[in-house]
Amino acid sequence: MYAFTPDPNQTKPVLYRELADAAQAICADESDAVANMANLSALIWQFVPQLNWAGFYRMIDGVLVLGPFQGKAACIRIALGQGVCGTAAQTGSTQLVRDVHAFPGHIACDAASQSELVVPVLRHGQVIAVIDLDSPQLARFDEEDAAGVEQLAQAISAFI
Ligand code: SME
Repeated sequence: MYAFTPDPNQTKPVLYRELADAAQAICADESDAVANMANLSALIWQFVPQLNWAGFYRMIDGVLVLGPFQGKAACIRIALGQGVCGTAAQTGSTQLVRDVHAFPGHIACDAASQSELVVPVLRHGQVIAVIDLDSPQLARFDEEDAAGVEQLAQAISAFI
C-alpha cells in the first residue's frame, strides 16, 4: 500500500518537494513507463488541489499522444505547435496559462477548464512528454506551481 498524505495547508514549495519525493519513491523499482505514468497522474491528482485534469501526453514520432491521466476523456493526438501542450512540446518551455480562453489555439478537452499549466519532460535535451494540469479555476497556477511541476518533471524523466 502506498500511503501518501499531503497536507493541503503547507506551502507550495513544500507540497511540490513532497510530490517529487513521492514520485521518485513510487517509480524507483518499476521500469514500465505506462505503469509509472499511471501512478504519477494519480499522485498529482492526490497532491495538487483544484484540478479537473492531470496527466501525460507522450512524444511519439513527432506527435503528442495521450498517456495516463486523471479526469475526463481527452483528445488523443496533438500536433507540435498546436494548443498549450503542442506549444510546450515545440518550444521545450513551460506554458503557464492563467486564462485558457485568451490562449490562441487552446484545445478545449473539458469545457470546465479555465487555466492550464503544461511542463515539458526532457531526457537528454529532448522533449519526451509533457505534464498537463487543468483547473476549473481562473488563474489557478502561478510561478510556484510552474517551478514545482518542473521539479517533478526532472524527478520522473528517467521513469517514463
Ligand atoms: N488544453 C490542451 C489539450 C489537452 S487537454 O487540456 C487534456 C491544449 O490546449 O493543448
